[in-house]
Amino acid sequence: MAPTFPFTGLDPVEVFAVEDTVAQLVWRGLPAGEVGIVIDGRDHVLGDSGVAGAADIGDLRPAAGHAVDITVDGRVVCQRTVHTEPAIEGDELLRIATISDLHLGEEGFGLVRKMREHPQPANGYPLRCAKAAARAAVEWGADLLVLKGDITDLGYPEHWELLDELLADIPIPVMAIPGNHDTVGRTRSLDATAELQRRGLFPAEVQYRDVEGVRIVGVDTTCAGRTWGRIRRRIDDVATAIDTPTPAMVFMHHHLETHHYPRIWPIGTPLREARGALSQMLAANPDLLISSGHTHRNRVRHHDTALITEVGSTKDFPGVWAGYVVHAAGVRQVVRRVADPDCLEWTDRTHAAVGGIWGRWSPGRMADRCITKRWSRAVRPIVAPTDLASLEA
Ligand SMILES: [Fe+2]
Ligand SMILES: [Fe+2]
Repeated sequence: MAPTFPFTGLDPVEVFAVEDTVAQLVWRGLPAGEVGIVIDGRDHVLGDSGVAGAADIGDLRPAAGHAVDITVDGRVVCQRTVHTEPAIEGDELLRIATISDLHLGEEGFGLVRKMREHPQPANGYPLRCAKAAARAAVEWGADLLVLKGDITDLGYPEHWELLDELLADIPIPVMAIPGNHDTVGRTRSLDATAELQRRGLFPAEVQYRDVEGVRIVGVDTTCAGRTWGRIRRRIDDVATAIDTPTPAMVFMHHHLETHHYPRIWPIGTPLREARGALSQMLAANPDLLISSGHTHRNRVRHHDTALITEVGSTKDFPGVWAGYVVHAAGVRQVVRRVADPDCLEWTDRTHAAVGGIWGRWSPGRMADRCITKRWSRAVRPIVAPTDLASLEA
């Protein structure tokens, strides 16, 4: 059984993400020294153990199990097994990344007792984690970044200014959709639609872009002043947007509820709307990946031929961003931790929220984060790619 810290339950070494040939290893609380791994008989130096760290293990065989020895200064401290995802046949066409629930401007995390940074640094954890996530996504090779809502914490002017700081750091095209925190409607809150449109990020409540091999659709599911989502009033536009010979990847802030009485907080789009919306969407296009934020957790479910995912927040445990590798035959989702040490230190701390339940509930299993989907329609014309540069603000 994997060793855990008695108070936090955090595993000192964790294989958090896998792709077909790469895995992300995260560690904390290791003895001081140089962390290394031995995998498939090869030695790799990963770096200083520090308080917390992360590294990629590359050159793995797809769809295979790999035994990994983790070492500190050459001494084996633990062993893990990495199971890689299968390769998708055909050339890789495009990489898309998403970040959600940035909550720029938030000053504390927790349901009852707020965890805070003391003293409050100039570069507070929401912006720090969002910047690190975007930077990692770009380094990973993302061609397009989608901001999936709850970009700000309360939509105050200074919160939107933090978005400008974030955007200044991102060299690739950005699409955005609002979340309930952006449309919370406090006295000092600015209008989210106006703020996003002013930055050229949100042309319409249902927006789409054709990129190589897939149509990207963003749907505004917010309901001003409400926590939950709505989709019925926009579902005809969504169905029209996804009615294309190519697969469609649909991004929205609110998850589609699966029960009449929601079993988790926060509430997503109620089942009475979600069920009909899913049917209409599948009738328009059977090859769907639908991904939301809002719950700050990682989950995967299947509905008919659609793959439906929820991806966690950048700034609370586990602190993630998602990447999508698009092929003509399918797509692979990988959810990776925001791996900068000063972000890991904060997000690991938030593992203890809600009496430690948060840290056990929010990450999901590996299969809730990293999954390969093959489109159901084997042969399809590829829509000519739009010039991605035209998406820039
Ligand atoms: Fe959120
Ligand atoms: Fe939300």
